[in-house]
Amino acid sequence: RLKGVIFDLDGVLTDTAEDHYQAWQALADSHGFAFDRQANHRLKGVDRRNSLRLILEHAGAEVEAERFDAMLAEKNDIYRERLAAYSPANLFAGVGALLDGLRAAGLKIGLASASRNALDVVRLLGIADQFDFIADAGAVANAKPAPDIFLACAHGMGLRPDQCIGIEDAEAGVSAIHAAGMVAIGIGSEEALPDADMHVPATGQLTVANILSFERGAAA
Ligand code: G6P
Ligand code: MG
Repeated sequence: RLKGVIFDLDGVLTDTAEDHYQAWQALADSHGFAFDRQANHRLKGVDRRNSLRLILEHAGAEVEAERFDAMLAEKNDIYRERLAAYSPANLFAGVGALLDGLRAAGLKIGLASASRNALDVVRLLGIADQFDFIADAGAVANAKPAPDIFLACAHGMGLRPDQCIGIEDAEAGVSAIHAAGMVAIGIGSEEALPDADMHVPATGQLTVANILSFERGAAA
């Protein structure tokens, strides 16, 4: 029986996935590393350190540890400058109503983002109070695609993993949800997220009714 719904943040509740991409692109450009929107696909849902590793791998470049850390800080500064413009208007259409509906249906709501900026983002969006539990990316041992953050979130809500559903826009995230023993709703196309158990083009198109019926179908 479904008791909780666990959301990813970037690309699921708001368009920060685009701001992460723009910040990485600006970083790569200023350091002269080849990078583009196509290469960015592999970075979705991947934490900051591993993202930079993938960028350097893509560019066929290596940098020493000190420059690596400086680049991480530089990217985060660019990203946070973009965040300064965020307000509740940046919440994807329909998400506010979905969260209200889930709560009215007696379901718990969790956040499982790999982002160290997640708490600031949900505050800027005006939805921080909607969550029963916000998992801390800095407190888990292994990043997505490992299940840790989804398990920590279920635990924080006082639920078993099999009582929860996860919602993700990234392959690494769908893998993490499955590894946690949960069913996965993919935001995006079937080609982009072949492993997700159900797809919708946008989070705002989900309803409490279709989440519940999907859950019953998956259990049957
Ligand atoms: C999310 C995004 C990634 C981002 C990661 C870390 O998973 O999808 O693009 O790299 O969070 O975010 P942070 O804010 O900690 O750099
Ligand atoms: Mg995401």
